Amino acid sequence: MKEAAARAVHLKDYAPYPYLLDDVSLQVRLDPKATRVVSQIRFSPNPDGPAAGTLRLDGEGLRLIRATIDGAPADVTVDDHGLTCPAPATAFDWECEVEIAPADNTALEGLYMSNGMYCTQCEAEGFRKITYYPDRPDVMAPFSVRIEADPATCPVLLSNGNPTVAGDGWAEWQDPWPKPAYLFALVAGDLVRHADSFRTLSGREVDLGIWVRPGDEGKCAYAMDALKRSMAWDEAEYGREYDLNTFNIVAVDDFNMGAMENKGLNIFNSKYVLASPETATDRDYEMIEGIIAHEYFHNWTGNRITCRDWFQLCLKEGLTVFRDQQFSGDQRSHAVKRIDDVLTLRARQFREDNGPLSHPVRPESYIEINNFYTATVYEKGAEVIGMLRRLVGEEGYRAALDLYFDRHDGQACTIEDWLRVFEDATGRDLTQFKRWYTQSGTPRLSVREDYTDNVYRLHFRQETPPTPGQPEKGPQVIPVALGLLAPDGSETMPTRVLEITETEQSFTFPGQETRPIPSLLRGFSAPVILTRQSTAEERAFLLAHDTDPFNKWEAGRTLAKDVLSRMVTDDAAPGPDYLSALRRVTQDDTLDPAFRALALALPSDDDMAQTLTDSGVTPDPLAIWTAREKLSLRIAEELSAVLGDLYDALERPGPYSPDPKAANARALRQTALGLLSRIDGGTRAQKQFAAADNMTDELGALACLIRADGGDEATATFYRRWADDRLVLDKWFALQVGYAAPADAADVAARLTQHPAFDWKNPNRFRSVIGGLGGNHAGFHAAGGAGYELVADWLIRLDPVNPQTAARMTTLFETWHRYDADRRDMMRAALERIRATRGLSRDSAEMVGRILG
Ligand code: PHE
Ligand code: ZN
Repeated sequence: MKEAAARAVHLKDYAPYPYLLDDVSLQVRLDPKATRVVSQIRFSPNPDGPAAGTLRLDGEGLRLIRATIDGAPADVTVDDHGLTCPAPATAFDWECEVEIAPADNTALEGLYMSNGMYCTQCEAEGFRKITYYPDRPDVMAPFSVRIEADPATCPVLLSNGNPTVAGDGWAEWQDPWPKPAYLFALVAGDLVRHADSFRTLSGREVDLGIWVRPGDEGKCAYAMDALKRSMAWDEAEYGREYDLNTFNIVAVDDFNMGAMENKGLNIFNSKYVLASPETATDRDYEMIEGIIAHEYFHNWTGNRITCRDWFQLCLKEGLTVFRDQQFSGDQRSHAVKRIDDVLTLRARQFREDNGPLSHPVRPESYIEINNFYTATVYEKGAEVIGMLRRLVGEEGYRAALDLYFDRHDGQACTIEDWLRVFEDATGRDLTQFKRWYTQSGTPRLSVREDYTDNVYRLHFRQETPPTPGQPEKGPQVIPVALGLLAPDGSETMPTRVLEITETEQSFTFPGQETRPIPSLLRGFSAPVILTRQSTAEERAFLLAHDTDPFNKWEAGRTLAKDVLSRMVTDDAAPGPDYLSALRRVTQDDTLDPAFRALALALPSDDDMAQTLTDSGVTPDPLAIWTAREKLSLRIAEELSAVLGDLYDALERPGPYSPDPKAANARALRQTALGLLSRIDGGTRAQKQFAAADNMTDELGALACLIRADGGDEATATFYRRWADDRLVLDKWFALQVGYAAPADAADVAARLTQHPAFDWKNPNRFRSVIGGLGGNHAGFHAAGGAGYELVADWLIRLDPVNPQTAARMTTLFETWHRYDADRRDMMRAALERIRATRGLSRDSAEMVGRILG
């Protein structure tokens, strides 16, 4: 039924709203089953919009109590998506009252309840589940909000902006900055506040609050510290100051995404706020820092300047991801951060771009916008900004951003506006560059070279394969950062940026006394797949000598992929080049331990599956897994002495601290442990598990024990220790599925779904087990298809309860086209089964339809 009604929305159909909203006032009387929302809105005709005279408001699942225009009953017609009524073509006052039931809202969109606490999630189109409203980002208004609730259960009442007046059982908030409805937020419950304050550049004293459930107040300090560092960084780097007297963050356990940038009231998945050494890993701390920064940075890139329509989502997301990546690089190590970001980009965005879900950074149509919060919009969107910055230089970038904030503050903008500020600030023509926003697919860049009479030449060729709806592409602007090295390892040409704009293009480098070794695409200067014929020897050379840390790592990664590929296809043994290069890196104390950990890590199975596919080989998941296990064992044997020394030497002297230096040392120590556990009978892991006083060490050891032999005893101990901690228990679920042997993974996951603590309506818990199985490549794809069946069963079950999360997880199937006919058939059958489900959500229907093609 629903699918038939679902129609696509097109970018080309954009038209402004006929009215402006001068002022919005909401009164919310909270009740689990019967919340009353009264809205009063002052409308006036939009001089730049189509003719006024009819009022169209979005609304879903609302019980309309009354509606008036200028005090007289409005003549409304209600349908499934909103209401329509005749309205004056001049200014008027709208008032309406609706009733909703937050306790019945399991979709976690709109107003819902989580552990007895009321909270909201309005992006992208959740506000229409709270009241009738023009729920579109280009409609902006100042809001005032009055919340009323039972003071016994909800002593704390929060909304956007600044608090004004409050009494027992009620509170009022005012947000002076006009905002779109998707940034509205409201929270009510029994919460405690971790308080602090921040003095802005111009001397504004801002009250900071992190609100959590009683008992969690001891786990807020790190998030608060990250917030203050973010605020200072945005002032220093972008000249952006905070603009309200209050900034609040609330942690909720039931949340579909990571976090949300509601104006002055960010709402977070509790896993990205709460941390203590005992319960959070180094990785958790890093994620908290990055996401706190991301949401805070949205205050300017997203809130003060927002999107005209949802096709422009990358305007705020790509830019804000780019900013949070810069921030994290500044806080930690730029080299390691860049490698991590590229790993994520390849694992998520390249994967997406290589399959049926490929879409441009700025899509041109969608059925359900929630399905477009993708790696392409976020991560590729950030890469595109990184390229822009490289092309116009640091100063050009700063000038363009200054102009952007200056020109567009308070507006709802487009990618055209964004590119225009770069053109105006730098004089550069970005017509061709815009293809990065409109063309989908990952460009393939191949390079050949020749060397005669001291002249070195590079010949590039670019091509972007066809993607859904885009059979043909034009050449894109590809900035290739290049350095040249001499055979003795010295740099004969420091990094410079070649701008490739043609399908085929050559560059000449005269005066090269010896044939140089090129270091191409330094810092991963463009999100492309680069191919170049090269020898293992040359890669080992670059791994040893490249002065660009990203390319140094990349050389090792390419070597590892070649070794693994040959192990899979020819059952070849790993060659000496790779192992001795790895030994040198591992022993090199001048290198950041976190870098060494990354160099020692092997490509994931999913990455190998894609790599093999790209070279024309159908990936066999079990063969990939087996090869990776073998290679790990081989590395462990070869480097056992070095690793053993490192493991001992990196033992921390003092108490745990999440600071980057200590975390980097632990990263290498854990990598060493992972390898050593394959040859020491698990003695070190046992010992570390028993002695651990922090979650990084404890979980790291547990992972080794599970991988070795299932780790039944340690798993049971861990459960007893942490049964009361939801976030830690998520890790317990995920680890068992993630590290299960290929033949057992589906069984392990199925057994865990029977566990009393498997609260499947909680998105984090669901993702731990079902997402965990999907992330276990060989387990998910194990012969027989039990993994596919289990995931499909659970997505079908989750869909009516929480369509957003179910739809997002259908992407576990997005790579079906890579595999052999058996697996393809089974994956397609699983997808068809989901598609045939009666009443399937619009969210999942769109995803499954696109994945099946
Ligand atoms: N806008 C949020 C962010 O990027 C993500 C989000 C989207 C959260 C939709 C909830 C719903 O930070
Ligand atoms: Zn964001």
